[in-house]
Amino acid sequence: MKKHIVLAAVCALFLIGGSAFGAEKSSTETGKEMFNDPKLSGSANGSSCNSCHKGGKGLENAGEKKKLTKLINNCLVGNMEGEKMDGRKAPMRSLKKYVQTLNN
Ligand code: HEC
Repeated sequence: MKKHIVLAAVCALFLIGGSAFGAEKSSTETGKEMFNDPKLSGSANGSSCNSCHKGGKGLENAGEKKKLTKLINNCLVGNMEGEKMDGRKAPMRSLKKYVQTLNN
């Protein structure tokens, strides 16, 4: 009986810990959806990344940029009236992964 309680507690800790420490996975597919989302991160003026960067336009060398998070946030805030995203968290990591596939 006690064993079950201990096991349940360990599972709960694992679940809570997992999401609290950014264990959430990032993916190119999620990044692609974000790239095409006109409401991304509170974006308020109806444009998505794709409105200006259709087919990866202007992003040919973006994958090599050291400050990719900052460059993306500049567009997100300045061009889309959205909120900055945290470069360490899964959503921004997904978006960067997708942007890097647009290199050509
Ligand atoms: C209203 C048009 C517009 C929107 C919307 C927009 N961008 Fe941009 N973006 C630009 C322009 C213009 C530049 C280049 C000039 C500059 O730096 O402002 C640029 C530059 C960039 C760069 C730097 C490229 C380089 O090689 O230096 C990245 C990366 C980028 N955008 C990603 C994004 C992402 C991701 C989104 C969506 C979150 C987005 N942009 C939304 C217009 C836009």
